[in-house]
Amino acid sequence: MDITEDTPFRVLRKTWQPVALSRDLEAGGVVGYTLLDEALAVARFEDGTLLATRDACPHKGMALSCGHVASGRLTCSYHGWQWAADGACVGVPSLAEPPQRLLDKATLETFAVQERYGMVWVRLDPEEAAPIPDVPEFEGAGGWRVLEAEPMAFACGFRREIENYLDMTHFAFAHGTTLGAAADVVLPPMEIDRLEDGFEMRAPFPSVKAPGTTPTKLQSAHQRHQRCYLPNVTTIRQTFEDGDQRMLVHVPSPNTNDSCTVFWLLAQPADFDGPALEDQVAFSTAVLEEDRFMCERQRPREVPIIPGRGGWGVLVSPGDTLANTFQKSFRGFLQDHLDAAA
Ligand code: FES
Ligand SMILES: [Fe+2]
Repeated sequence: MDITEDTPFRVLRKTWQPVALSRDLEAGGVVGYTLLDEALAVARFEDGTLLATRDACPHKGMALSCGHVASGRLTCSYHGWQWAADGACVGVPSLAEPPQRLLDKATLETFAVQERYGMVWVRLDPEEAAPIPDVPEFEGAGGWRVLEAEPMAFACGFRREIENYLDMTHFAFAHGTTLGAAADVVLPPMEIDRLEDGFEMRAPFPSVKAPGTTPTKLQSAHQRHQRCYLPNVTTIRQTFEDGDQRMLVHVPSPNTNDSCTVFWLLAQPADFDGPALEDQVAFSTAVLEEDRFMCERQRPREVPIIPGRGGWGVLVSPGDTLANTFQKSFRGFLQDHLDAAA
């Protein structure tokens, strides 16, 4: 089967995507999220059980994300129909004894849902194309501290955001006021390895200080290790000259073809000799805002799957090597799962 522009979403239904931060979905809470063009409601019952379903009540289509959870039941805000955590309809207030046939018909379609790294992840298809990757540092291994930043909505396709995160020659331009106008646009040699579940890149990273200033620890020269787990989880591990390390992860979760929500986390050892995670968030958010400005102003809003001008694979400079590696690997990922389904 050939890859077309609608192939990514068909295959991504088989992958786990974050839909909320765990801290934003308290017991008894319900949130709405659009994942891969599918409007979802995700509820947390009092015992912690999660339920992910379509955001449309089987009765009259009311958004279930406007409902609430109480006494072990998700209740629709319109006529009060109720569901248990497994999706079984267990109450229709206007009927004292609702017939089983009606309750059966009102069963919710549920989706796989799990929690990891402080995020709630949903998979729309029963089949799994790729697991959530294992990154022990983001689970506190070795005494690392982790901070989940506020997810940021981007009005662009998720592949534009991934390319931006892998791009090494935009610092001097897009981040002139944050990372430093003096950043070198001529790249040091990059070592890129294709892996079974993605790829990785190692390179020495030059200081990105502003002219005439002393670089802060986070702006100083370091060793950079970027790791992409297909389809869309990308980490950066920075190793500074004093041996300290810090990690970042970005997961641009696709809402529609033209929009995504970037879930991002920062992690570092408890004894990191530099700013606390909480103090890094405002700066990192300012950097991400500069990236968003660029991502939202590229046309088309999503990188076409076929190579072309303004997309990928045609006007290639050394700085685009990593983004091109992503696009090629992503196509390979799509092909593998198309072939498996054929
Ligand atoms: S629309 Fe939900 S109970 Fe009627
Ligand atoms: Fe950037």
